[in-house]
Amino acid sequence: MTAPLRAGDPILVNVALAERSYKIVIGRGQLTSLGRRLGVLRPGVKAAIVTDETVARHHLPATEAALAAAGIEATSVTVPPGESSKSFPMLERVCEALISARIERADLVVALGGGVIGDLAGLAAAVVRRGLDYVQVPTTLLAQVDSSVGGKTAIDSRQGKNLVGAFHQPVLVVADTALLDTLPERQFRAGYAEVAKYGLLGDAAFFAWLEANWREVFAGGPAREHAIAVSCRMKAGIVGRDERETGERALLNLGHTFGHAFEAAAGFSDRLLHGEAISLGMALAFALSAQRGLLPAADAERVERHLAAAGLPVRAAAIPGGPPSVDRLMDLIAQDKKVKRGKLTFILARGIGASFITPDVDAAEVRAFLVQKLAER
Ligand SMILES: NC(=O)c1ccc[n+]([C@@H]2O[C@H](COP(=O)([O-])OP(=O)(O)OC[C@H]3O[C@@H](n4cnc5c(N)ncnc54)[C@H](O)[C@@H]3O)[C@@H](O)[C@H]2O)c1
Ligand SMILES: [Zn+2]
Repeated sequence: MTAPLRAGDPILVNVALAERSYKIVIGRGQLTSLGRRLGVLRPGVKAAIVTDETVARHHLPATEAALAAAGIEATSVTVPPGESSKSFPMLERVCEALISARIERADLVVALGGGVIGDLAGLAAAVVRRGLDYVQVPTTLLAQVDSSVGGKTAIDSRQGKNLVGAFHQPVLVVADTALLDTLPERQFRAGYAEVAKYGLLGDAAFFAWLEANWREVFAGGPAREHAIAVSCRMKAGIVGRDERETGERALLNLGHTFGHAFEAAAGFSDRLLHGEAISLGMALAFALSAQRGLLPAADAERVERHLAAAGLPVRAAAIPGGPPSVDRLMDLIAQDKKVKRGKLTFILARGIGASFITPDVDAAEVRAFLVQKLAER
């Protein structure tokens, strides 16, 4: 396990992208180092913090204090919490705020929040003055292990999620694991699905470690930092090799083909959070892999057992309000994945930690599989 050198020392993960490389700083209490780190990165910098109302209530004063302590002048702009802020009106609000705060190319935008804020602030930074640098200060588990790393930014279109965006890498990520203490348990749990995903897609030993230590990850302390660091290291490695998702980066979509369909069918609402949908999607991807004879049924059962133990959904029947119809799911999968001559691209697995991309899954096979799975209680 990657124990910090001593209490208070952060774990550092490098995202290697040549001149766009940056560091992820992970550790309890690291928010207090934010001002000093920005000062080192950009002497004389001004900052604009972008956040949502809920995060502002919990963590904006400490963030402002951390910047003030390093003599950094900061303004802030706050949007309502939730996915609906990944919108054109909120993008406009943030862009106008950055411009009126006179944030220029030498200055920094600070995205303080979950994936919604990271995506919105990152996109605003990408377009204001043709590109401002920005720093991610992720405050949800999902954001600390996934959305704050890798440079994908976006808002939603009326026609679908994440359809208006840009690749724009941050210059620094500071993941203070203590900020997660105020996160509602359900949100933490949903983010945990993405942590388990890293084990399932590429690191069997990490998955086994999670099976033994997930309670400590939820409780906080060094196990949480370790899990976040392993997750970030894996994402950083993949992004470093395939920044624009022309190949390997698609592995990060394990569980997402099924998951997105359930999420969309639930209207991207509180009925089914993203991570919950991904948990169900990963259980299905492993079950489909087992059915295709790629891995032993015992592996698929082990995946289900762990996700369920952590309190995540693994059965479609468990979705509040009931599961959508197979027709609806197949429509959504087809929209998401673009069927090519009746074939779908899926992330399947040859075992725990051994996922791969396959472009030749028969739509008819997926339909038959879903008919059977939706009938399970
Ligand atoms: N860019 C990427 O690579 C990428 C990857 C995965 C997901 N995403 C995007 O991320 C978004 C989901 O992110 P999310 O799950 O972090 O959602 P979120 O940003 O909406 O945060 C979830 C909720 O928790 C609240 N919150 C956040 N931090 C808190 C804290 N520390 N204490 C108390 N409450 C807190 C927020 O106000 C919000 O209500 C989606 O829009 C998704 O598309 C992007
Ligand atoms: Zn996801």
